[in-house]
Parts: sequence; structure tokens; C-alpha cells
Amino acid sequence: MAIFDDDQFVADCLEALAASEPAGAVRSAMERAMADPSALAERFSVPVDADDDGILFRSPEILVTCAIFPKGFVTGIHDHATAAIIGVWAGHEDNLLYRPTPTGIESRGGQRVETGEVLSLGVDDIHDVHAPATSWSGALHVYLADIVTEDRHEWATPDSSATPFDGAKAERRWLEAAESTGLVNRP
Ligand SMILES: [Fe+2]
Repeated sequence: MAIFDDDQFVADCLEALAASEPAGAVRSAMERAMADPSALAERFSVPVDADDDGILFRSPEILVTCAIFPKGFVTGIHDHATAAIIGVWAGHEDNLLYRPTPTGIESRGGQRVETGEVLSLGVDDIHDVHAPATSWSGALHVYLADIVTEDRHEWATPDSSATPFDGAKAERRWLEAAESTGLVNRP
């Protein structure tokens, strides 16, 4: 059985940065990767280690991550302040999509990204991601900037004012959900 080569994927993403349309070129690399979801499931074992942040590569220009969401996990509404390319290799990610308006944000519908599918988000896109109710989900998320250091936002509800994205809070919420659903290894 083939095993996903994350070094090669990162190399493909870095090469894509030099393309005339980097987001489209990353999407092509993502679509190639998602052609064999079982190879990713073979590479990224579950349960995961609690101290594994899932980051495969990080630079000011790009962040490549393996994002595993616990069963029933909800990210909350957030932006990325850059383009994002998402490929799901296990379960699905339900996206509630929003866009900015002069006074806040408004819904622009929803999209379920199934195993093997790819979703591209533009720099202004905002979303709220829901993992399946009955299983964890696995995906590759590629961002065309280092979103750890970007000036990002979150919204408690679609009618709320934006607040600065709290990465530490997001990590705590993920860990609590992962622990309660048996998604993390504990020594
Ligand atoms: Fe996101």
C-alpha cells in the first residue's frame, strides 16, 4: 500500500509558490494528493500524540498542516487573512461559509468537503468547520502565509463583532475535544 510522502508534498507546494497562480498550483498539488486518501491514512496514524501540532512545513510564505479534528468538533467562525487550500482524506469537513460586509459578515452558504475532495478559500473567505458527528476527520490544510503570525479574526456568532483570533484558546479547545473522544495518545 502506498504511503503519502509529505516531504514531496511540501516540495510540490513550495514549487507552486513560484507559479503565476500559486493558489491554483497548490490546489493542483492537493488534488494529486487527494487522489489516494488511503495513502494519507497510512501516513498519519490516529490516535495522535498530544504534542503533535500537525505542522508539516512553516515559513512566512506558506503553512502546510495535517489537521485532524475530533468527532463533533466545531472550529468556530474564523478567517485566515490569506488563501487556504483544504483537502480531506478521512471523514468530511462541513464548511459554513461567510464573507465580509461593510458592517460585519454574512453567510454565503455551506459546503461539505468529502474524503478525496478539495476546497479553495480566497483571502476574504471566512468559515466555520464542523467535523462529522460520528467520527474524526483528517485533512491537509495549506495556507499561503504563516497564519500563526497573521492578524486573524474570529466571530462568536455571525452577528457578533470580530475579535482577534485566539490561537491558544483554539488549541485548548482542540485538545479538550481530542482527549474526550480518545483522539490523542497519553503517555
Ligand atoms: Fe480555517
